[in-house]
Amino acid sequence: MKVLIVGSGGREHAIAHKVALSSQVDKIYCAPGNAGISEIAECVNIGAMEFDKLAQFAEDNGIDLTVVGMDDPLVGGIVDVFESKGLRVFGPRKNAAILEGSKAFSKELMKKYNIPTAAYETFEDADKAIEYLENSNYPIVLKADGLALGKGVLICNNFEEAKEGVKTIMLDKQFGSAGDKLVIEEFMTGREVSVLCYCDGTNIKPMTSAQDHKRALDGDKGLNTGGMGTFSPSPFYTEEVDEFCKKYIYKPSIDAMKAEGRDFVGVMFFGLMLTPNGPKVLEYNARFGDPEAQVVLVRMKNDIVDVFNACIDGTLDKIDLEFEDNAAVCVCIASGGYPVSYEKGFEIKGLDNFKDKEGYYVFHAGTAFKDGKIVTNGGRVLGVTAVGTDLKTARANAYDATKLVEFDKMFMRSDIGKAIDEA
Ligand code: AMP
Ligand code: GLY
Repeated sequence: MKVLIVGSGGREHAIAHKVALSSQVDKIYCAPGNAGISEIAECVNIGAMEFDKLAQFAEDNGIDLTVVGMDDPLVGGIVDVFESKGLRVFGPRKNAAILEGSKAFSKELMKKYNIPTAAYETFEDADKAIEYLENSNYPIVLKADGLALGKGVLICNNFEEAKEGVKTIMLDKQFGSAGDKLVIEEFMTGREVSVLCYCDGTNIKPMTSAQDHKRALDGDKGLNTGGMGTFSPSPFYTEEVDEFCKKYIYKPSIDAMKAEGRDFVGVMFFGLMLTPNGPKVLEYNARFGDPEAQVVLVRMKNDIVDVFNACIDGTLDKIDLEFEDNAAVCVCIASGGYPVSYEKGFEIKGLDNFKDKEGYYVFHAGTAFKDGKIVTNGGRVLGVTAVGTDLKTARANAYDATKLVEFDKMFMRSDIGKAIDEA
């Protein structure tokens, strides 16, 4: 069969890698893809938001299954366009992807269906938001309602910072129309865990847990990013926590979406905070996490095409998800200056060193070809991933693997997986 993957980051490279391992697949296309993906898939020069062109490509090339990796096209309704043309596609429809597309929607859903999350208020008026903040406890969290590349969340330590935050989001519109509405949320403390779940509209099945490192610098300092590295599994996500989440968070979430007439098919991603009062939802995403996908998918044993098909066909209850009894760590290598401003076009050396290294993977996030060479082409450039028998071994392997590559102005965090030592 022929599979088309939509997206161009490390997550899509990890998905393509897993799809390539399926014996059912003869040919993979990726739109638009990147230099690394082009080693296992044919990259097609169509943007992820060009739904009609993508659907036309799928029709013309007899694509049997399209997998959408990115949030923007999902929230924009790419699945609806494909379905209207009778094309098979993995991902939530627009009316379900809103779970990620609007924080105001997801907070209201959680409130209505009693799903544990931080207390909150939603505002459409900046003055009212500021009035509310005058009488709030600090720290407090401000969230732009819409999509903001993982950067629309501000943690404010006092009223002055919060007032500035309201200005940034609602008046200066730093995140565009994502800031038309503002969610103000209680600050929670605890360990963060990401759990990605396959969904078929009715059934929901969690994959193994992972932990992201959202801040740009060591010690969780600096700005929020898309994610600087991950490890899987999280030692803090115990069986007890898993039981709680299945009963009070995962199942109620898919049931709530169904009850609202928004059957969720695809990957429902739970950003959880393990607070002293139990696990609570920080955020939902409507897709695989990036770089969570990198560590979770290299540990997954199932043929991923079987799982995608079961989600689309509503037969996920027939699938037993299986993961290797090992661990994985992904260290993102970024361009100096990310997430604010950075240069592109530096040659990346050493990529071939990964070819004969079993258990070492280099997933490309922002790379391109220039004059026959592979060059940097984004903020996050590579997701160097390694497995090991346990978390500490996987971490040592991943940092070992980062030494195989080199480019000008490369930077990475040196403390991905430090939390493992505290487990
Ligand atoms: P989000 O995009 O909603 O996951 O938020 C990005 C990051 O901000 C999260 O990974 C947390 O580290 C932090 N964050 C979000 N909401 C809260 C909250 N209510 N309390 C504490 N930290 C939060
Ligand atoms: N790594 C977090 C995300 O994909 O949103």
